[in-house]
Amino acid sequence: MKLSPIIGVVAAVLVTGAIAAQQAATVKPVPELTPAPIVALVENKPATAGDATRGQTKAGTCAACHGADGNAGDPQYPKLAGQHELYIARHLALFKNGGRENAIMMGMAAALSAQDMRDIGAYFATQKVLAGIGDDTLIGEGPYQGKKYYQVGERIYRGGKADGTPSCIACHGPSGRGIPGPSYPAIGGQHATYTVAKLAAFKTGMVWGKDAQANAVMKAAAKNLSDEEIQGLATYLQGLHNNADAQNSSAK
Ligand code: HEC
Ligand code: HEC
Repeated sequence: MKLSPIIGVVAAVLVTGAIAAQQAATVKPVPELTPAPIVALVENKPATAGDATRGQTKAGTCAACHGADGNAGDPQYPKLAGQHELYIARHLALFKNGGRENAIMMGMAAALSAQDMRDIGAYFATQKVLAGIGDDTLIGEGPYQGKKYYQVGERIYRGGKADGTPSCIACHGPSGRGIPGPSYPAIGGQHATYTVAKLAAFKTGMVWGKDAQANAVMKAAAKNLSDEEIQGLATYLQGLHNNADAQNSSAK
């Protein structure tokens, strides 16, 4: 298997005119969703903007799985480096209140206050994600015969699919940085193993958060993805980064 690094800039050059045209047709500016009421999710004590220095101390217990700087070594654990403060805070609140089900993380989040969640979020937001590499193995058969896995992912990421699958770039950005705030996570550089697991779960209908806190966008985005396409997207994302904008992810 040959592996090659992918950076956002190189990826842009690879886009064909056809994809660019399709992309122009499908990419619409996405309005920011109403931010989830992060404080109300957990407790009534108001939290203020996170403090990264305090957050670093509080994040000590997270290092075993997510890495001290948020670049988890083991691919089953998501990287948190460069993730947005409010996205992290929202998800810690969801783990705590059961809106996102995971036994390990429920236990980890149980002890955290809303302020701890923002401080920890602020710390990881200041860290730089270390991207991995994309898989450029040629696909031997099927609808994508002769294409490389990462190319399958790149095409969908940038241009969506004719069956209504949206282009991911509309919400997650050209280098996978997402949009600072609670809603649109950074996904560039993430471990492919973790991304495959999430896309497969979204495809079968997983939604995080209950009632007013639910965000069902990814359930719709993933429902028509084949296993091969999920693999392609995940490996493309693993190699996708743009260190020039990787620092702009902390939210106010
Ligand atoms: C024993 C291992 C372990 C420890 C320790 C741990 N986590 Fe996690 N964490 C996980 C796993 C596993 C997941 C993936 C859960 C899933 O698939 O839904 C996760 C997911 C997350 C996510 C969601 C990431 C995303 O991209 O959606 C956040 C945020 C998070 N953890 C924060 C923390 C924080 C903060 C701490 C420390 C207070 C911590 N974790 C400690 C194992 C751990
Ligand atoms: C309309 C906006 C939108 C589009 C288009 C979109 N996403 Fe998302 N995505 C989101 C939102 C919002 C979340 C977070 C949901 C939540 O926090 O409840 C998310 C979450 C994710 C996650 C989980 C991240 C994590 O850290 O756990 C992955 C992976 C992902 N998206 C990949 C994709 C891929 C691949 C595509 C294209 C097929 C795509 N998204 C298209 C809005 C979008």
